[in-house]
Amino acid sequence: MNITVVGTGYVGLVTGACIAEMGNTVYCVDVDKTKIENLKQGILPIYEPGLEDIVVENHSSGRLHFTTSLSDAVEQSEVFFIAVGTPPGEDGSADLRYVLEVARQIGDTLTSPAIVVNKSTVPVGTADLVREAVAERLAARGLDIEFSVVSNPEFLKEGAAVDDFMHPDRIVIGADNDHARQVMSALYAPFIRNRPRTMFMGVRDAEMTKYAANAMLATKISFMNEIASLCERLDVDVENVRLGIGSDERIGYHFIYAGCGYGGSCFPKDVKALINIAHQNDFEPKLLQAVEARNDQQKHSLFNKLSTHFNGDLAGRTFAVWGLAFKPGTDDMREAPSVVLINSLINAGAKVRAFDPVARETARREFPESWLAEGKLQIVEGQYEAAIDADALVLVTEWKPFRRPDFRALKRLLNTPLIIDGRNQYDRDQVKREGFSYYGVGRQP
Ligand code: UGA
Repeated sequence: MNITVVGTGYVGLVTGACIAEMGNTVYCVDVDKTKIENLKQGILPIYEPGLEDIVVENHSSGRLHFTTSLSDAVEQSEVFFIAVGTPPGEDGSADLRYVLEVARQIGDTLTSPAIVVNKSTVPVGTADLVREAVAERLAARGLDIEFSVVSNPEFLKEGAAVDDFMHPDRIVIGADNDHARQVMSALYAPFIRNRPRTMFMGVRDAEMTKYAANAMLATKISFMNEIASLCERLDVDVENVRLGIGSDERIGYHFIYAGCGYGGSCFPKDVKALINIAHQNDFEPKLLQAVEARNDQQKHSLFNKLSTHFNGDLAGRTFAVWGLAFKPGTDDMREAPSVVLINSLINAGAKVRAFDPVARETARREFPESWLAEGKLQIVEGQYEAAIDADALVLVTEWKPFRRPDFRALKRLLNTPLIIDGRNQYDRDQVKREGFSYYGVGRQP
């Protein structure tokens, strides 16, 4: 099959590369010239395990093409994936500007029947807007070419995106005609050879499925963070509670880790967008609002613990931060709890020495240059270097090298033997035996 994927972000690039890997010819289109030129040379805009190999391999074998011009791709393609960003607008609603611009360009260039697939996360009803935009431009060219609009939301996780695409737990296809259903089935067949996992539904159902999935996961996390706050006040260890409830199959062990709040490009944005969709439909989404509010509060919890420990006297102190990415396995810092913590510490007059195995470059771009220049924030090259003369070590992202640290070395390096464990990675009793003060999330100090 010949496929075009518009947008070479996480979703677009992974989709394009994985579909090419299965023997299809794929044209990846992006307006960003530098990004396209880099991709041609095997330089990827994101870090994602396994992605570089399949991009380079499929590009050199002629199955994966990169271009800035949709018309280069359009001649050949029967399926067009729209995988551009839907950033939150001022009010939290998904900004559809880029999605609709791509739809118009498809209408401007289409020469034969096609299927237009929405992979971006978009509000219910967007497929209708895409259909109108394509039809309008076709009509302006005096053409009556048949096309369908399909909703095929993506469920990949950053850090495991290639694996998720190659081994999907489900493929959701919202389509309103048999031809579109057949083409989409054929396209995904190689990914689900061992077990059929395709779910067909209405276009609007598929659009809602994506939001509901992310909102449900965010709800589990916020719920657990709320229980954790109660545990702290009741002399209960949330880690035992997690194990105790996770063993109930109806609850399950996934996504019930208390921590310092969820981040990333999806949960915060999608929960906000769903709240906005509700408001636009005269509905007060009380639970979703609470999920968001709890998460915002949770991101301040590590700072609050430090502030309480030092009686509000943080100015002039230095703190070591382990982990900057919003989760392990990625260099992405969008909405990361580390950003809230570091901003609060520096605004309180403290200094920060931070280390992350992968996100150091991202961090240098994230914070004001003056902070780096004046030494308020140092991004260091080793995890133990971060701890030198610091008044506490704060674990924010649970990268593997942070999980079993050399506590003796840490004790020697730190000014104050204090560990704030934002992901409940450490055995509290062991850490205390090593001579540290310890604060986790949802457990006693
Ligand atoms: C999320 C979903 O998990 C994917 O299924 C979805 O496709 C994707 O959004 C998307 O819409 O594109 P992602 O944002 O990559 O994926 O990250 P997650 O692994 O879901 O983690 C999100 C955040 O929740 C992280 O900050 C993580 O630390 C936090 N988290 C996760 C917890 O605090 N506790 C948990 O138990 C699990």
